Amino acid sequence: MARGGKKILVAPAWPYAAGFRHLGHAAAYVPFDVFARYHRLRGNDVLAVSGTDEHGTPVMVAADREGKSYREVADFYNRAHRDDFRRLGFTYDCFTRTTTRNHERVTQDIFKTLYDHGAIVEQTQLVSFSATTGHTLPDRYIEGTCPICGYPEARGDQCDNCGNQLDPTDLIDPRSKIDGSTPEFRETKHLFLDLPRFAHELRGWIQGHDAWRPNVRNFSLGLLEDVRARPITRDLDWGVRIPIPGYAEDPNKRIYVWFDAVIGYLSASIEWAAVSGDPDAWREWWQSEDALHAYFQGKDNIVFHTVIWPTILLGYGGGGEVGGRGGPLHLPDDVFATEYLTVESKQFSSSRSHGILVRDFLDRYDPDPLRYYLIAASPETQDADFTWADFVRRNNDELLANWGNLVNRTLTNAHRNFGAVPEPAELAPADQAVLDGVDGGFDTVAAHLEAGRFRAALGETMRLATTVNQYISDQAPWALVKSDRARAATVLYASLRAVDSLKTLFTPFLPYTSQQVHELLGYEGWLAGPVEFQEVDEDGDTHEILTGDYETWVGSWAPSDLPPGQALREPRPLFRKLDDSIVEEELARMRAADPA
Ligand code: MF3
Ligand code: ZN
Repeated sequence: MARGGKKILVAPAWPYAAGFRHLGHAAAYVPFDVFARYHRLRGNDVLAVSGTDEHGTPVMVAADREGKSYREVADFYNRAHRDDFRRLGFTYDCFTRTTTRNHERVTQDIFKTLYDHGAIVEQTQLVSFSATTGHTLPDRYIEGTCPICGYPEARGDQCDNCGNQLDPTDLIDPRSKIDGSTPEFRETKHLFLDLPRFAHELRGWIQGHDAWRPNVRNFSLGLLEDVRARPITRDLDWGVRIPIPGYAEDPNKRIYVWFDAVIGYLSASIEWAAVSGDPDAWREWWQSEDALHAYFQGKDNIVFHTVIWPTILLGYGGGGEVGGRGGPLHLPDDVFATEYLTVESKQFSSSRSHGILVRDFLDRYDPDPLRYYLIAASPETQDADFTWADFVRRNNDELLANWGNLVNRTLTNAHRNFGAVPEPAELAPADQAVLDGVDGGFDTVAAHLEAGRFRAALGETMRLATTVNQYISDQAPWALVKSDRARAATVLYASLRAVDSLKTLFTPFLPYTSQQVHELLGYEGWLAGPVEFQEVDEDGDTHEILTGDYETWVGSWAPSDLPPGQALREPRPLFRKLDDSIVEEELARMRAADPA
């Protein structure tokens, strides 16, 4: 792999292998791919790693619900998530899973090293047992009222309403989700992550990040006000084994799923390095101060990325088998947390269970309009609501009427009248001005993207497309071809070059249609090409990862250098116009699926 740019770790949250992805989830993921694609085009060395989160109670609950084994459920949803993400065009370098041998080895090394460093301590804990069966009742099986915000359906591990982490004993009126009985709490020994020991260091580190979104920074500082040691083992038989004497022998105690999941960012990087044939390559991202680590997730995951994971990294230091003597592990630099995206909340306000699955959506609509919508109407800084009417409107009136129309009219005129990129005469001031404006986008859009202002970045790109549409309307090349062919050639040349630049500016958001524009303009190769499955063999155990060869991309984040004379291809529309009638159709479909 040819490397030479800045090392950028792009780390999107690991989805539980416990249910299909819906649009609310997708809204939290699309930004990572926009960011990764931008940095790749820029020539930076992006390592985008994630995978399915397959341990703990979420998968156990799903297995009980579906009458399958834990392993079967994990396999099934791992596959389902990979399919969705490939269709959405997410450029992971390694989207793997937490049930690999590699992940177990890395997790156990980190656990053991933290224990040796005194960052993990033993304490007794009140554990919940079902009064009905006498078995332990995992946190997620317990529901009650949140003591912090009063939300009546908080879970034993976390409140989905206010995002705070909870213990089951914190809940007011706790009850078993299985049969509604009141759980019994008994004392058992567990291992705890000694967060108070790191609170001071963490506070200083968070305060040093002025640029974090206020929702992330203030929330995290608030959590440190009253921080307690957190239990990181559980009374379960599904998870990574605890590599500590007294625990290792007990098949009914495992590492807490959140502890192993966040380690996935590191273990997946190590897996990627092994697969790429240079097993130490991950160190350039993880044991270098110069790297940039950007994490992407929904707002309910903030604590794990700004408090728990940094504590694990700090506690590990340079130690352990995995770290070797390569130096301390890099802490998160950016933590982008998306607020919630609801779906048709006016129509369906009484029910929480409805949603639109990514897979169903992509069976009926194309990925780029979805990616466009999820950024343009993104819950970037506040909760947002998806509506079908808004989707149709944005597809037709924004994407198609602006960018789609610009590409279509430019390509059609040039192709019909010249067949190739026309040879321009000297550029007039109006031609130069429109090109300068678009070229300036490579700085302004970049600044938004680097700061995580994805909606603003897309808005600016659309605004630039509008200026080019305006220029073409003013110049009317379709009339000029009859009166002044040389001038028509110049105007169309400038327009095509603007389209070529805009194609690059749009690539992070709209990779599929940008590839199409790239080909229509007569280029070859992958502008920002495909995502693929690859089999990984761990001594006979195999699994598939989602990856891609992004090194061969021919796109680069720079103004167009379109060669006159390059043959153009027969234009075809980028976007389908959506009929207004689909709004009612889709709403009817949702009502049928969720009559509540
Ligand atoms: N599985 C969690 C969820 O879906 C997210 C885990 S993110 C990670 O909410 F950092 F732990 F990987
Ligand atoms: Zn709450």
